Amino acid sequence: MLPLVAVGWSPDHRALRILDQRHLPGAEVMRDLVTLDEVIDAICTLAVRGAPAIGVAAAIGLVVALEHESEGCGARARAVLMGHAVRLIASRPTAVNLSWAVGRLLAVAAAVGDDRLLTALRADAEAIRAEDVAMCDAIGRFGLDIVPDGARVLTHCNAGLLATAGIGTALAPVHLAHREGRRVHVYADETRPLRQGARLTAWELQRAGIPVTVLPDGAAASLLRSGAVDLVIVGADRITANGDVANKIGTYGVALAARAHGIPFYVAAPWSTIDPATQTGADIEIEHRPPDELGDLPVGARVWNPAFDVTPHELISGYLTDRGFVKPPFSGVTGV
Ligand code: MRU
Repeated sequence: MLPLVAVGWSPDHRALRILDQRHLPGAEVMRDLVTLDEVIDAICTLAVRGAPAIGVAAAIGLVVALEHESEGCGARARAVLMGHAVRLIASRPTAVNLSWAVGRLLAVAAAVGDDRLLTALRADAEAIRAEDVAMCDAIGRFGLDIVPDGARVLTHCNAGLLATAGIGTALAPVHLAHREGRRVHVYADETRPLRQGARLTAWELQRAGIPVTVLPDGAAASLLRSGAVDLVIVGADRITANGDVANKIGTYGVALAARAHGIPFYVAAPWSTIDPATQTGADIEIEHRPPDELGDLPVGARVWNPAFDVTPHELISGYLTDRGFVKPPFSGVTGV
């Protein structure tokens, strides 16, 4: 079986290649994207998703779009760069990795002349991708301590291979533990309304040969009370200076239930997900999604469909990063 790569370069390095997650688990459809509109559409429709993956997609996507439009002319690329960056950043507001990656490319652009612009941006987009792979590996290695042989792990949404350029964040220790021969069982919350847990986490784990049980979101509290789970690990879209965590809607409820039943609740994320400039979870912009994601409703029914929620730092047992387990406050931290 080929290694799974959710986001990266096309083989000729002229396009952004994604595994289109809208088709999973039914079909593995790879798509090559070149224009900015294609990249933004893929991010908005969750064809590519997960905080680190959309950061990598934005970086590679911006570079290939600029190269394509400018036909290699640095001055022409610079003329449209800022407008493209603003549109990309606005495509999904909650995950900091997207604005972090685009901001990093803008800083590179500011430091070089037009003659070197496209080469420098390409090199940094590749660095962002490669660093993501390395960060996932490091998270996995540090996380092996909390996934002993026989561990039973509950996770929410998908923070695995499909959400990064590498082996994932929350699922990285699970993948590595399995590769080491440890027996691990994962409980995957279905993750309403887009079912990332049922469609994506279950598919990814099955593909890797890791036992997985899917449960409806509403069953998570009962499962935690039943004694069937040793620990919870979830990913993050943004970690604020005080340690509050934005992640997929429903995460907060899982954290509350885990605390009520004395089960450790870990957040796993690369350093690029820490946002020291945002003080608390109350300051995070939460993306709201269209009503039709909730399926059939009576005509005229009002809908509240936030894509993310905030788990307060008090409920988090540990922050697993590529630099090991870290503790808030994160106010003074610097980037990668
Ligand atoms: O809306 P999604 O599917 O992009 O939401 C993804 C999540 O909430 C993940 O848990 C988070 O981005 C971390 S992915 C390593």
